[in-house]
Amino acid sequence: MSTVKIAIIGVGDISSIYLENITNMFKEIEVIGVCDLVEEKVRKAIETYKIPKQYYDMDEAMQDPEVDIILNLTRPNEHYEVTKAALKAGKHVYSEKPLAATFEECKELVALAKEKGLMLGGAPDTFMGSGIQTLPSITSTVADL
Ligand SMILES: NC(=O)c1ccc[n+]([C@@H]2O[C@H](COP(=O)([O-])OP(=O)(O)OC[C@H]3O[C@@H](n4cnc5c(N)ncnc54)[C@H](O)[C@@H]3O)[C@@H](O)[C@H]2O)c1
Repeated sequence: MSTVKIAIIGVGDISSIYLENITNMFKEIEVIGVCDLVEEKVRKAIETYKIPKQYYDMDEAMQDPEVDIILNLTRPNEHYEVTKAALKAGKHVYSEKPLAATFEECKELVALAKEKGLMLGGAPDTFMGSGIQTLPSITSTVADL
């Protein structure tokens, strides 16, 4: 069976749960390469999960014709640049939350994905986590003013 091929940008703390699940649970998708600014993190991911390719920078991953999806697991203030570069390179993107740091940046990414005919997905915030729990209290405070 042919698989949908993923390159991960950013193999920090959260990447292990993605790598664990993609490797052990989903047969339709496959991580073919990883990239990080920290060489040691790349080595650990490659050795632990038997990943075939190391990319020395994110552009190398984005130019790889084998890659279908860029999985953006960088930090929040880096999401926009990485996702934008991936979409421009013609790759589908799934990003950790938030999609970008501002609403304007999010709208720009959504428009770019539409223009290019690509899929853009984002991880949801933790259900009933602190962010979502704080929102109703802010909303009701504003409504009371
Ligand atoms: N850690 C958690 O429990 C957790 C839970 C839910 C969601 N998240 C989300 O996941 C994302 C990542 O979190 P984390 O805790 O794994 O962060 P982290 O700092 O451990 O890992 C991010 C990695 O991205 C790399 N990186 C940044 N820019 C890069 C680039 N241009 N090219 C290659 N690598 C690059 C960094 O070197 C770093 O190793 C965040 O957006 C966070 O909101 C994290």
